[in-house]
Amino acid sequence: MPEIIEPFRIKVVEPLTFTTPDERLDILQKAHWNPFLIDAEDVLIDLLTDSGTSAMSNYQWAAIMTGDESYAGSRSFKRFREKVQEITGFKHVIPVHQGRAAEKILMSLVGGPGKLIPNNNHFDTTRANVEFTKAEAVDLVIDESKDFDLDHPFKGNIDLEKLELFLLQNEGNVPIGMITVTNNTGGGQPVSMENIREVAWLLRKHDIPFIIDACRFAENAWFIKQREYEYEDKSPLEISQEMFSYADGATMSLKKDGFGNIGGFLALNDDALADHARNLLILTEGFPTYGGMAGRDLEALAVGLDEALDEKYLAYRAATTRYLANHLLETGVKVVRPPGGHAVYVDAKRFYPRIPPAQFPAWAFVCQLYLKGGIRAVEIGSVMFGRCVEGVEHSADRELVRLALPRRVYTQAHVNYVCETIAEMYRERESVTGLEITKQAPFLRHFTAELAPL
Ligand code: F0G
Repeated sequence: MPEIIEPFRIKVVEPLTFTTPDERLDILQKAHWNPFLIDAEDVLIDLLTDSGTSAMSNYQWAAIMTGDESYAGSRSFKRFREKVQEITGFKHVIPVHQGRAAEKILMSLVGGPGKLIPNNNHFDTTRANVEFTKAEAVDLVIDESKDFDLDHPFKGNIDLEKLELFLLQNEGNVPIGMITVTNNTGGGQPVSMENIREVAWLLRKHDIPFIIDACRFAENAWFIKQREYEYEDKSPLEISQEMFSYADGATMSLKKDGFGNIGGFLALNDDALADHARNLLILTEGFPTYGGMAGRDLEALAVGLDEALDEKYLAYRAATTRYLANHLLETGVKVVRPPGGHAVYVDAKRFYPRIPPAQFPAWAFVCQLYLKGGIRAVEIGSVMFGRCVEGVEHSADRELVRLALPRRVYTQAHVNYVCETIAEMYRERESVTGLEITKQAPFLRHFTAELAPL
């Protein structure tokens, strides 16, 4: 069997644009050395995110035609709710347009000054929605997660001792506890069933509701099946059902493991909390039987959720990230190990050891990746997480580049091309210099910053 065999054949194609190195230099210069400011049509392979970038199946497209666009009581909502309830078992399913809308509603209800919300690692939007209410977002991932070379099977786990101490020290101020599966911020790393169970038990002991950030629940279920031996004979659906059975609710971006270009939900068991959430939903998202989505989206997502749990698909998905990571490691490139579910994270600090963090080695990597191969990726380093205080750069503790793989979009040949491009960059790494920021916004500066090579 080859390492990767795509479990689909291609019925509709979207042409890619090829550019020359000279054209790309011109494009990047005009974009002020910020890949976020490049037009997507000038990108050959876009690994910026796995969110909203999936290819839908023929069954999803067919389902779109069955969408019921009624304002209230839509048939499509019932189908959607049934599918979400089959997988999660939650009593209330509240549709929203994407993950952060669910976070915004939930945090508006449970957050507030003096409150603290633990997680393995909060994703940026989750953190921002917690902090927007003046509550504090606390990361309690295990220390093993910080060692990129360590092959721990569940680097997304929460440190149970830290959580227990945290709960004792903050009694009365912790409105919910969260866990993100897989842990995107920590390298797309999975959480074990054992850890989910024990986190649930600790939270229940303190009477604190447990909410799962479920964006990549199917990928997490696959890792549990592969790495936690009691689960090897269980299906991804059964594993997901058990994961959710320990929780009191979930926030979900269906732009990931829902195979949607848009969509999400907030699911809850608590009647009163769900009532309040629906009232906020009506204020900004829409009526509770469509939230922020069209009936056709709800139909496509109900089908997508099934497809995300297909074993052939999940095996292929994991094989792709593993294949990319292994080829990069063979070339000598350091990546976060083991590879995560949706992305491979390159350690740019060790790729460009001569570029200091204040000159943004991971940003230099994403620029070179575009110049060399027309490939776009995202920096998770000092441009994203560093701060400039009175003209002095305060660097982040890591300089990573995330190569996120859109679902069912690229073939093995595309992945080979990414590997070859990075191998070429590795051979030429001595000649690359860092950059400086010439213009920046006061927060979330990476989206709009302007830079120049040194
Ligand atoms: N939680 C996690 C773990 C995420 O990765 C994301 C989005 C969200 C919540 C928010 O969902 O985008 O639908 O509002 N992650 C994308 C990414 C943006 O590129 O990793 P959203």
